[in-house]
Amino acid sequence: MEKNIVPQSYGVSQESREKLNGHKGMLVFFTGLSGSGKSTLANILEERLHRNGVHTFVLDGDNMRYGINKDLSFDPEARKENIRRIAEISKLFVNAGIVVIAAFVAPYDADRRNIRNTIPQGRYTEVFVNTSLEECEKRDVKGLYAKARSGEIKNFTGISAPYEAPTNPDIEVSEFLTKEEAVQVIYDHISVKL
Ligand code: ADX
Repeated sequence: MEKNIVPQSYGVSQESREKLNGHKGMLVFFTGLSGSGKSTLANILEERLHRNGVHTFVLDGDNMRYGINKDLSFDPEARKENIRRIAEISKLFVNAGIVVIAAFVAPYDADRRNIRNTIPQGRYTEVFVNTSLEECEKRDVKGLYAKARSGEIKNFTGISAPYEAPTNPDIEVSEFLTKEEAVQVIYDHISVKL
């Protein structure tokens, strides 16, 4: 606890917000290489939940780096701060009763553990989008792998910076599933927790 800061409490609880919404707040966190399909799956999952009356919000690495995280680079300390902020922002949304769907590379195990410890128990689901480097590089949707190979981009995950693959994710989806199959697995897993 910071010195001279006293937490304030309010009359409307998380429980009463969730009762109003008709479902719990939670964080579904997608991790995987750039180009692995995180944002695509996050988007399909959100559309499906939204259609079924669930209050959702997507936090996406690329988008957040245009705004609140635009001061951060891709060195390990900056990525740590990136993920710390996202965990804290997600915690607020979860408290507000929203299903947050986050899509970040989040390459470091310690940073992902920090998210799990920040979000209240039972409200965090880690989804490892396990698409191989070969496949991501072949897709190279944004042309970033080519730039990383040529040295134009430094510290690029999978090429010149590490990706510590999750060893115990709540859900793992392989590149051999269709988008629809992958989202079905995730949807089935989280819908019983809502
Ligand atoms: S994280 O590692 O800090 O979690 P984040 O998810 O916010 O990364 O941003 C990753 C996105 O930034 C990638 O999808 C890619 O489009 C872009 N990017 C630009 N430079 C890099 C880099 N050096 N490493 C990884 N992604 C990068």
